[in-house]
Amino acid sequence: MKLTWYGHGTWLIEIAGNRILLDPFFNENPASPVKAEEVSADVILVSHGHFDHVADVASIANRCQSKVVAIYEIATWFEEKHSVGNTLGMNIGGATELDFAKVKMVQAIHSSQLPDGSNGGVAAGWLLSAEQKNVYFACDTALFGEMETIGSVGLDLAVLPIGDLFTMGIDDSLEAIRLTNPKRVAPAHYNTWPPIEQDVKHWGDEVRSQTASTPVIVNPGESFEV
Ligand code: NI
Ligand code: MN
Repeated sequence: MKLTWYGHGTWLIEIAGNRILLDPFFNENPASPVKAEEVSADVILVSHGHFDHVADVASIANRCQSKVVAIYEIATWFEEKHSVGNTLGMNIGGATELDFAKVKMVQAIHSSQLPDGSNGGVAAGWLLSAEQKNVYFACDTALFGEMETIGSVGLDLAVLPIGDLFTMGIDDSLEAIRLTNPKRVAPAHYNTWPPIEQDVKHWGDEVRSQTASTPVIVNPGESFEV
């Protein structure tokens, strides 16, 4: 599968011609090289209700007839408030088959209120399995001990936030890598705005010297294969 980072928490995952978008945030994302109008998706995964994760979900879903997969409260909100026709509401611990991938909604430690104040349930991460590969998107979260259980399936890649302030920072990300033990690890949710600026080269050096994982660092708009 091919992963493209669009800055912040936004990822495109391409699997055998199918396109999954995670937390599409383009138009007001200063790090994104593209606008929402230029992007298409078969499936949109949503980790939680915050603006920087849901902002472009409805416009893309309504233009592309994408299936929006989110926690029950958020799936219902897109259906009722944004007329999204194809939604799948689920909850933490549940998994679903998407024909070309299996996605499991896993725990995250973070808040999840929607932009209009509606209840967004709780925040989640995603464990995506396809083509004999397992990829863990921690999404917005603090470090938590159960990451060890998530990693026990054997991870080819973990995507971890490193921006600090709203999520774990660099030091806690190193512990998250030790707990999940992925072959490779990619950073996210940093350098979008000044409050979450990080020295990602320093992060990469720390990963190499302190963990058994290989860091994969790309610029917004760049891709890599898993
Ligand atoms: Ni958030
Ligand atoms: Mn966020």
